[in-house]
Amino acid sequence: MITGLVYLSEATTFFDELDLNCLLINAANTNQKHSITGFLYFKNSQFVQYIEGPANTLDELFLKIKSDKRHRVKMVIDQIELDSRLFPEWSMAYFASPDDSESFGGQIFLNMTRFISDYDMTQGAKKNALINLLGTVKQLNHA
Ligand SMILES: Cc1cc2nc3c(=O)[nH]c(=O)nc-3n(C[C@H](O)[C@H](O)[C@H](O)COP(=O)(O)O)c2cc1C
Repeated sequence: MITGLVYLSEATTFFDELDLNCLLINAANTNQKHSITGFLYFKNSQFVQYIEGPANTLDELFLKIKSDKRHRVKMVIDQIELDSRLFPEWSMAYFASPDDSESFGGQIFLNMTRFISDYDMTQGAKKNALINLLGTVKQLNHA
């Protein structure tokens, strides 16, 4: 079984391209060693990250991430159990939507994260909503 977790956080320090690149290269290297996959999204100082992997490894990583002073974790959107990985090929994919707030990627993504956090759904419905959300992210990334 694979556990997947999505959270929202807010940067507490300024992140420029270089800071983000360093964070990503380090994360991708470590994740590869620990069999973690997922993606990181960044916009207006907000991060949305999805990480998936074996439950123990994921818990350890999330503890580290939560104690990282460069951001503050605001909400765990969801945690799900999966038969297989949703992002097997990405040790840490990164994308940022264009600054323009009307942008299609940014809008869909934020609306869906709101949708998931605002509704009191059953586990099954949440899982489907999360899988849809991640599917959208995948499509946007390939667009
Ligand atoms: C938004 C954000 C996402 C992160 N994602 C990961 C990640 O996916 N994998 C990882 O190893 N570290 C990630 N980190 C970095 C960890 O918080 C931590 O700095 C890193 O694991 C090194 O910890 P250590 O030196 O105590 O081993 C992330 C940090 C931030 C701010």
